[in-house]
Amino acid sequence: MTRTNKKVLYSKETIEKRVQEIAQTLSDDYRGRDVVLICILKGAFIFLADLSRHMAIPHMIDFMRVASYGSGTVSSGKITVTKDIETDIEGKDVVIVEDIIDTGITLAFLKNKLQEKTPRSLKICALLDKKARREVEIDADYVGFSMDEGFVVGYGLDFDEKFRSLPDIYVIEG
Ligand code: IMP
Ligand code: MG
Repeated sequence: MTRTNKKVLYSKETIEKRVQEIAQTLSDDYRGRDVVLICILKGAFIFLADLSRHMAIPHMIDFMRVASYGSGTVSSGKITVTKDIETDIEGKDVVIVEDIIDTGITLAFLKNKLQEKTPRSLKICALLDKKARREVEIDADYVGFSMDEGFVVGYGLDFDEKFRSLPDIYVIEG
């Protein structure tokens, strides 16, 4: 087995502070609304849990999971829903909570899929944004950190199902 070298890109303190700020912004923007946070499994599970606990307004949560064919570190472009939401989001304000936007293919697909359920509004909240790698035109409405190229793990993000439970976010080197 090859060794994986990694270095801290965002510490848990940095992440916690930023997640608190996003939760505050969302709380201000959605006060008095019927808001549903949709966590995209698996990568966003820790982000969702922290975000939800820092929200100052009532909100619902639900989960969705998609699979893209092929493995490795890049989306293949062919995506299917393997677990759909169970909440009726028609007429509600929906925020997709995702770990990272890379090519944008996953979120473009998700946005289309969820739009079919006619929510009142539909926004994207992504912890990380690799803007330089975008292949389809899509932007998050709320972004934790914009980063350059490189593969990151920790705080829910994995490499081959490893490293999700690390509290900091690391970039894999080599
Ligand atoms: P996209 O469809 O290319 O935007 O890919 C988004 C998905 O790819 C994310 O939800 C992640 O699951 C995965 N992904 C992309 N970049 C990384 C990374 O640096 N670390 C871990 N997962 C990543
Ligand atoms: Mg993901």
